[in-house]
Amino acid sequence: MNASVDASGRLSIGGVDLLDLASEQGTPLFVYDEDHLRARCREAVTAWGDGVAYGAKAFLCRAMAALAHEEGMCIDVATGGELHVALAAGVPAERLVLHGNNKSEHELRAAVEVGVGRIVVDSFDEIDRLERLGGGRPRVLVRVTPGIEAHTHEYIMTGQADSKFGFGLATGDAERAVRRLERSRAVELAGVHAHIGSQVFLADSFVREVEVLASFFNPLALPELCIGGGLGVPYVEGEEAPTITEWAAAVHGACTASGVPEETRVTAEPGRSIVAAAALTLYRVGTIKPIEGVRTYLAVDGGMSDNPRPVLYGSGYEVFLPRSTDADRTRAVTVVGKHCESGDFVVRHGRVPSDTVVGDVIATPVTGAYGHSMASNYNKVPRPPVVFVSGGAARVVVRRETYEDLMACDV
Ligand code: LLP
Repeated sequence: MNASVDASGRLSIGGVDLLDLASEQGTPLFVYDEDHLRARCREAVTAWGDGVAYGAKAFLCRAMAALAHEEGMCIDVATGGELHVALAAGVPAERLVLHGNNKSEHELRAAVEVGVGRIVVDSFDEIDRLERLGGGRPRVLVRVTPGIEAHTHEYIMTGQADSKFGFGLATGDAERAVRRLERSRAVELAGVHAHIGSQVFLADSFVREVEVLASFFNPLALPELCIGGGLGVPYVEGEEAPTITEWAAAVHGACTASGVPEETRVTAEPGRSIVAAAALTLYRVGTIKPIEGVRTYLAVDGGMSDNPRPVLYGSGYEVFLPRSTDADRTRAVTVVGKHCESGDFVVRHGRVPSDTVVGDVIATPVTGAYGHSMASNYNKVPRPPVVFVSGGAARVVVRRETYEDLMACDV
């Protein structure tokens, strides 16, 4: 949102020159436009109202949890670890929503003890566990699988009947779960939840979700209907996605059309659409290897350890030079990382300016979601730092790992 290019073509974000930042902080480096993050959180709260939760799995550190909370979002945590980080950031427990298809007794106890706002119940075994725990009487939503196939990658499609998540509507499991939860003295049933998948481009997929959910939800007369996360973002040229505002409007329209009672709290859990486009990754080019008649490999100092999405889902990204932001990108290259695998792509079909040389800093935009959060230490590569930029200043919110960190758990 806050990118600007000076007369010589150099790119700044939030008033901070990216090449200077790369020199100071080293590469690879995640750079987030803090005002962009805040604007997306505010947009979500305005569009959905109170109760909308940030899907923290997309990107979580204490600074991000605090930011989402400051901007009025609840936070969806999917494990005890995410719960721990959000609490450590000072987010009040009642603003947290606990997810997970296999929550341990330990995770459930921790959540009930601190008093999380909502627990999204995913299995009959979990209901058993909650009943064994007793005490606290947490508010719960029941997660149902509506049998919708969202148009997205198979690995991130979650709403179809064949899913490890939630209770099937078609099988009657959802109905049985509701009956048990209604009777249970261990919990307070507060609503229904579904999540159809991630990186979904069509508002229509969510409309369809509401249509299917409504006939189940309406007769239950429960206060909340959460339609999950999943709004897609454009990664490469030519892609388009609805805004958060348009997404909410489509869902609200569908709720009205499907007779969802007006007083229902309709909520959502956007992750990617809050953080993805707020960030880019800076890398330094280490080698350029043209292979006559085949392709040119341009290798950078990171790769599948800081962004596994190209390897996992075949995801595409753009690539450009922040020293010549608007330069024509005429040279076809395959941007690869430094890992010991041929599949270690950063940008499989990239284009860079023809004068790109070893030592140049390159940028891949839209890496704010599921990059840092899915980063690993494969090949014992330390994970990159995360910097928030705003108003001409940069602050490191996650420092770079050191070689010592790589042995922190060795005994
Ligand atoms: N709610 C639930 C229950 C979820 O499982 C997820 C994501 C979200 C909300 C947030 O979804 P979002 O708005 O970010 O799409 N690693 C994959 C994405 C996995 C999504 C997992 N669940 C990727 O890099 O594309």
